[in-house]
Amino acid sequence: MMKKTVLVSGGAGYIGSHVSVELLSAGYDVVVADNFSNCDLTCFEGVRKITGRDDLPLVKMDFCDAAAVRKLFSDYPIDAVIHFAAFKAVGESVEQPLKYYKNNLDSFLNVQESAQAHSAKVLFSSSATVYGEPDKMPVTEESPRKPATSPYGNTKQICEDILRDTIFASKGAVQGIALRYFNPIGAHPSALIGELPRGVPNNLVPYITQTAIGKRECLSIFGNDYPTPDGTCLRDYIDIVDLAKAHVFAVRRMLEARMEADYEIFNIGTGRPVSVLELVQAFERVNGLKLNYRFAPRREGDVPAIWADPSRANTVLGWRAERTIEETLAAAWAWEKHLAGI
Ligand code: UD1
Repeated sequence: MMKKTVLVSGGAGYIGSHVSVELLSAGYDVVVADNFSNCDLTCFEGVRKITGRDDLPLVKMDFCDAAAVRKLFSDYPIDAVIHFAAFKAVGESVEQPLKYYKNNLDSFLNVQESAQAHSAKVLFSSSATVYGEPDKMPVTEESPRKPATSPYGNTKQICEDILRDTIFASKGAVQGIALRYFNPIGAHPSALIGELPRGVPNNLVPYITQTAIGKRECLSIFGNDYPTPDGTCLRDYIDIVDLAKAHVFAVRRMLEARMEADYEIFNIGTGRPVSVLELVQAFERVNGLKLNYRFAPRREGDVPAIWADPSRANTVLGWRAERTIEETLAAAWAWEKHLAGI
């Protein structure tokens, strides 16, 4: 059988690079395309090293450039596209909404148009942020989407709607999947790829590892008066390699024509809530170190608790999270040390 080709937009970034590794290991041809607006070549080179694929194609381009996207789809025989190319800083999106709407929507519309023209399947990287502050836990794919609390979150909802409406209008000619990620953390066990935040990290785990290595003085735990067992927020932390593997299951399902509906949604999480404090303590225990942290006021916009019901992904997709939080936090620390040259 002919090898299938998967385009990974934003493929040089944190999630995209891990997904590229798993797709290549599963036997797919991969085309990585990225404008390098929020990453450098580190992870792309890491993917080449891990997979031994020095010939892995890299296209430097901006997905907001419709002509460039059209050219990409005529240059390569793309069977499926996984769309990651987007801005992702929640706070920045509140300050600069137009930047977020323009970039995240234009790029997805361009991908969607070309995918439709070439009958390519579409996998959209969505987020648990679309659930807002849920009424019932854990959240299933049927849980209502709440009004987004940031322009970033809104772009995730709008892109899901663009995908759904395009598929519906095509009467089966177009198919796609949205994966709603919970909190992706960790790094590849090789420590050759991982998260590379620019400036001060917004997310918890990069802040922890940078504090542990001495780049930041002290971790602030935002809020210890939430209505949760230890007062800190609960999240569903999903290992980045597990998360990446979910994409292989989803791509296979689309390309092997096994979808039950033309548009499908899956939660990608572990189903296990972990508090911020528990995560910090697990990091200390696994890596045998003490972290400098203090309790600070709540961060605006944070929901007290959210975790997934991943049973649809488990049963329908055949995927489940396998790595333990200890393995994940050890990998995150190994990656930070790799970056520091230790
Ligand atoms: C955020 C986004 C989510 C996005 C995800 C990407 C929202 C509301 N959240 O999730 O859409 O997909 O990032 O990774 O849109 N924390 C601290 N100290 C810190 C940093 C974080 O205590 O220095 C706490 C937060 O209060 C939160 C938890 O750690 O309770 C996780 O925070 P974070 O990693 O930023 O992820 P989310 O806000 O859950």
